[in-house]
Amino acid sequence: MADNLVVSVSTDKKERYEVLLPQIEALVAGEPDVVANMSNVVAALRQTMGFFWVGFYIVREDQLVLGPFQGPIACTRINLGKGVCGTSWKEKRTVLVPDVELFPGHIACSPDSKSEIVLPAFKNGVVTLVLDVDSDKLNDFDETDALYLEKVMRVVEKFI
Ligand code: SME
Repeated sequence: MADNLVVSVSTDKKERYEVLLPQIEALVAGEPDVVANMSNVVAALRQTMGFFWVGFYIVREDQLVLGPFQGPIACTRINLGKGVCGTSWKEKRTVLVPDVELFPGHIACSPDSKSEIVLPAFKNGVVTLVLDVDSDKLNDFDETDALYLEKVMRVVEKFI
């Protein structure tokens, strides 16, 4: 019984991502403005997936600077290698954090944030921004989120 429940929850999430991806592609198609597209991408993610906080941090010289987001007020600047976002930027990889309190150097923008996933987007092999998603529940992200959010980042790379 419990196993069936887990499968159905996971499938539901996958289905929502499957619906969301073409929507995001359609939203940004034909619009050249980067800020407009980033804004609609985070709004679509928030609306469809119900994320607590979702937004972009953009590489500006030696720091990440807050970009379009949906959710509570957030920190504006993050240094390379700092927090989950700075780690994703420095290590050029998706960082999935099941419990933010167990991640050394986690930057707590909101005390309600409990788990987090951060994914980089690349231009000519260089990280130009990261997408940060926070949940107010522990262990809220898994391989399904990593897989589909990475697909979202490949769409984002088409307009940045
Ligand atoms: N927790 C992030 C900082 C950004 S906020 O979560 C919006 C981090 O550790 O990098």
